[in-house]
Order: sequence, then structure tokens, then C-alpha cells
Amino acid sequence: MKLVIILLLCHMLYCVDVDKNTFSNYKDVKTQHLHIEWLLNLNDKVIDGSVEYTLKVFASQLTEVHLDIYKMNILFVYYPSNGQVLKHHVEYDPIQSEEQGDKLVIELGQAYKYGEIVKFRIKYQIGEDARALSFMDPSQTDDKKAPYLFSQCEANNCRSMIPLQDTPSIKFTYSATVITQSPLINVFMSGNRLQTQKFELMGNYDLNSIANIFQFELNIKIPAYLIAIVAGTVEERSTGTRTAVISESKNIQKYKDELEDLDQYVQYLEDYIGEYKWGSYKIVILPASFPFGGMENPLLTFANPTIIVGDKSGVSVAVHEIAHSWFGNTITCNNWSNMWINEGFCVFLERKGLKTLFKDINLVHVNSQVGNNEMNTLIKEFNSSQDDFVKSYASLHPKTENHNADDSFSTIPYERGFQLLYYLEKQINETRFQQLLKDWLQEYEYKSADESDFYRFMISWLKVQLSAEEFTTVKKSIDNVYNKWIYDYGKPPIEETFDNPASKDVLQLANAWIEGKGTKPQNYQIFDGFKSNQKQLFLSTLSALAKDITEAIMVSLEDAYHLSDLRDAELLFRWYALSINTKYAKDTTNLQKIRAFVGVVGRMKMVNPIYKALNKETATQWYQENYAFYHPLTRQSIESIIKSKTIII
Ligand code: BES
Ligand code: ZN
Repeated sequence: MKLVIILLLCHMLYCVDVDKNTFSNYKDVKTQHLHIEWLLNLNDKVIDGSVEYTLKVFASQLTEVHLDIYKMNILFVYYPSNGQVLKHHVEYDPIQSEEQGDKLVIELGQAYKYGEIVKFRIKYQIGEDARALSFMDPSQTDDKKAPYLFSQCEANNCRSMIPLQDTPSIKFTYSATVITQSPLINVFMSGNRLQTQKFELMGNYDLNSIANIFQFELNIKIPAYLIAIVAGTVEERSTGTRTAVISESKNIQKYKDELEDLDQYVQYLEDYIGEYKWGSYKIVILPASFPFGGMENPLLTFANPTIIVGDKSGVSVAVHEIAHSWFGNTITCNNWSNMWINEGFCVFLERKGLKTLFKDINLVHVNSQVGNNEMNTLIKEFNSSQDDFVKSYASLHPKTENHNADDSFSTIPYERGFQLLYYLEKQINETRFQQLLKDWLQEYEYKSADESDFYRFMISWLKVQLSAEEFTTVKKSIDNVYNKWIYDYGKPPIEETFDNPASKDVLQLANAWIEGKGTKPQNYQIFDGFKSNQKQLFLSTLSALAKDITEAIMVSLEDAYHLSDLRDAELLFRWYALSINTKYAKDTTNLQKIRAFVGVVGRMKMVNPIYKALNKETATQWYQENYAFYHPLTRQSIESIIKSKTIII
């Protein structure tokens, strides 16, 4: 009887979908290694691709391999050993095609047994439909000399540039050959660049049209979404023994100066969490259309130029991306419903690093407060939705099935996840929690995990480390909140305010402005002495009170602080969104500055709130003006914002 139950349980476990956002048969067969070969034709915005798959069979019989694809042209599939061509077809559902792509079915022509290795190759072509890729004309670059290409694969966009098992639950090593047609183009990928050619070419190319062959290798297993490429007139400048900055030449010195302490940031995080095992760490400062602040591609973080403010106030993004080297890239969430396994842990580690960097825990709490404000606003917004999916985005376990996983993306996994860990830390103290995190990393190193893995790990860790009595108390306080924290759609069960001396003045000043109804508070000049994150808190507090903000207050704020002319985009976008929401923004005030801003910054976090605040007509007009500048992902998100607006007559 016992055996039957165990077998049944195993069966149930096996049948549970780990990831509902992939069409691949990833439980029957798992990617071990990918070898990619790309011929970049940047002038025509097309890439000829070949991929060699090394897959291991986990089913008793395997006759088909199913891969994820998104709007690409599959040319043929073949066995490299004997050239035999394999039958393939695409399972196509018009709605899913746009959302998540399609299933590519490959018939292996024979049955493979458990444990066997399958090797085949696919030849395919991709172009501007690949939503992971941004192909830019020379005119859109800083140096204006050559075209530029960069990728953004998280969450499920890798399937638009490579047919593969696009699920974070599958990890593999990869290597790549990138062939360029112009000697001006330099290439970096999220791996080590090889000094000498190691891999034979899979395709036949016209040697006259080849300028360079770049090869890369990453021998640490990663999920698909961490594959990345940048190609353009980019160069590298060292910032220390193991760190560097990469960008076009125009601004590279400025970027290097701002990021001169990169080596130290890696060190701060190592001091807390243990060795950085990836070797080198480089940051690419991409064109301003990069849709995120940063993206943790291994060895090669991608970042938006808005993180370069001039006073190092934006470097916390770099610290965050470095922190992903442990949380996200070493332990990875196994589906997009538990993204907090990446982002919540990462923010927690980031803030440990910031504590060393800021030399003041209060300034770290200011970040947590800004995050908390944003989280609470979002929880209210999501939770009041009629749509069950949107409602679930308020929790740490958003529903993602049949949807583009990006739809559920918000600051919730970051802040709600961070706050859960902050609460757990408090239950056992900082030193012990630090050890727990180190052991968690070791246990799941280069693997993927979810919230129940973490729960099980934590409880068994505590059982060993704590006295029986303490264990009982701590377990009880965890069990009281854990599931609610993760699955409930309301606020977290324990609310934390992160009140601290560094935010006291900020909050008082914000309130004094509202009470003053347009008269400047007596001490209004203390604002100039605030750090960037304190100013962010100031603006985010005002945004939460927007309905009490009159035009007179806005006029007076502008007069006091010249907010529309700041350099720091973290402040500008908040001020601009507030300006529109309070109807302060007009042609005679800052409307044209806001219009210019959305034409030079493409970071979704910064343009989305502005598009949300605009009326449908203006939003549509500004979107059309800047369509060519925006990244495919930014386009998608602005389009959905505009679609949800009603026309005001
Ligand atoms: N991994 C994220 C970016 C991301 C998340 C891309 C989900 C696609 C889907 C990255 O690490 C990140 O969190 N970036 C933040 C900066 C950070 C300091 C919070 C960003 O882009 O603003
Ligand atoms: Zn992150």
C-alpha cells in the first residue's frame, strides 16, 4: 500500500507542470548544450542561424522533440552525423502565436531511450519580428557609423531568436559563433569570448562577405533567458581587475568614470554571500531605447544610460544586476509565477551591498520605502481588477498560463519578495539568515527552484540549526504568514514601514508642501541636500497624495526646485507623470519637455507612467512620433496602455 502511494505521488509530481509558459516537452528531454551560429546581416536586419542541440532523454521512449519558437522561419532540421533531414511542423494557434509563440515539432525518425543523447541541428532565419532583438540603424546610434543590435530575452523572448526549450527550469551550457559582415562591428555575448577559433562552422558562407568571426563559450549552466548578444561599434574599457564597461565610444569615458567602483561592488556582495564564480563582470551601456534599467546577462549586464546620472546615484542598478549573479543566475526560478525567487532575493542581496556602499542603513531603508509605496499602490490597483489574472499580479504567485509571462511583470516580486525575506531574517537574526542564504545557494547551485523548494529547505535548515524550542516558535511564526505572503492578493500579512531618520524629514517636507497649498514651507531648501533616493521618496509620496495637489502647489514646487530640468531620470519621470496627473503639464509649463523625454528615454519603467497619465489622443500621437525609437517590448507595453484608455470627447 505504502509503495502504491509513493508511486502515485511520484507520478503526480512528474505530471505537474513546472512551467506553463513553454510548449516544449521539457520533462521528456532536456537541453544539455546549445551551439549557436549566427551570420549577422545588420544592414538588412536579418540573421541566418544554425543551432546544434545536445539533448538528454528522460522518457522511456522519445520520438519527438517540441521546441518553443516565436515568428521565425525554420528552414530545415537534420542530423549532423549523417545529414539525414528530419520532418518538422509548427503547431500554430493564432492567439498564442502573438502571445507566447508556437510549438515546433521535430520528428526524430526513431525512438530514443531513457538516458540517451539526441543531437540534431536546425537551420533558420530571423528578422525584425524577433521581439527579443532590437535592430538599429546607424542614425539611431551614438557614433552614427554602423548598425547596432542588442537582445533582451527575459522573460520568454529567447524563443524569438533561437528555437529552444524556453523555460527557466531547464539549464544548459552554450557556445556560439557570430559572423559579421562589416569590420566595424564588435560583438559580445553573455559568455567568455575565445581568443582563438575553437568551433568549426556549421554553415557554408561566402568568404568574401565575412569580416570577422567571434566565438563565445559559457561552461556554467544557464536558463535560455540569459543568452544575450550585443553587436555594434562598441568597445571595452577596464574598470578594475575583473570588471569593465562596454559602450559606443562617444560616452565611454563618462560611463567609465561613473562605474569606476564596479570592482568594489562585486566585492561588497562577495563579502556577504560568498565567491563570485563567473570570472569577469562587464556592463554594457546600451542605447537609450533599452527597455529596462538593467538586465543580468551573465558576465555581461546590459544597462540603460539613465543609470549614468553623473553623481553615481544610479549605480544601485549595477549593484542589483551584480546581485543576480547569485540570485537569479546561480539559483533560478523554475517558472515565471515565482519570479520573486530571482527578484525578491536579488533585491535583498542588493540592499545588503547598498548598506556597505551607503555606509548608512537608513539610506537603504529609504529605498525600501520607495519600493513599499510603489508596491502598495500596485497591490490596490491589481487587487481591484475584475480580471482574475490581473488580480493575481498582486501576489508573489501571478498566473501566467496562456499569457505572455511579461504581462505579470511589476515591482511586486521585488518588494513583496524582499519584505518576506526581511521578515524571515528578523525571526532568526541577521547572521543566521546570512548563513541560511549561503546554504540555500549551495544546495540549489546551478539549479532552478520555486517557493515550496525554498520553504522545505528553510524549515529543514532551521530544524538542524535551532534548538527544539526555538524551532517550534520560529516555524509557527513562518507558517502563520508564508502562504498568505505568497498567494494572497491583499497586502502582506505583516506590514513594514521602514521608518527611519533619513526619511522623516522627507515625509515631513512632502506633507508641509501639501498643507502650504502653494506657499513654500519654511525649510523647503533642505530638499537640495537630499540624496537621489530621498528625492524619489519625496516625489513618490507626493504622487500618492496627487488628488490633494493643486496647480498652485505644482507651480511653487517647480519654482523652488526646477524639477522639470533635473538630470536624474529617476526623478524626472516621477515629476513628469505627476505633472500630467495633476494637470499642471501644459505647453506653457513642461508638456514639451515631457514630450522630448519620451523621445530620448525608452526605459519602460520611466515612459509607461507617463503614457498611463496622458489622454488617449496625446498618447497615440507621441507614440507614433517615437515608434521607430522604441524597442519592440516598449512598443508592446505602450500599445496595451493606449488600448486600455477610453477616448475623452
Ligand atoms: N531581470 C530584471 C529585468 C527584467 C525583469 C527583464 C523581468 C525582463 C523581465 C533586472 O534585474 C531588473 O530588475 N532591472 C530593474 C532594475 C533594478 C534596480 C530593480 C530595472 O530594469 O528597472
Ligand atoms: Zn532584477
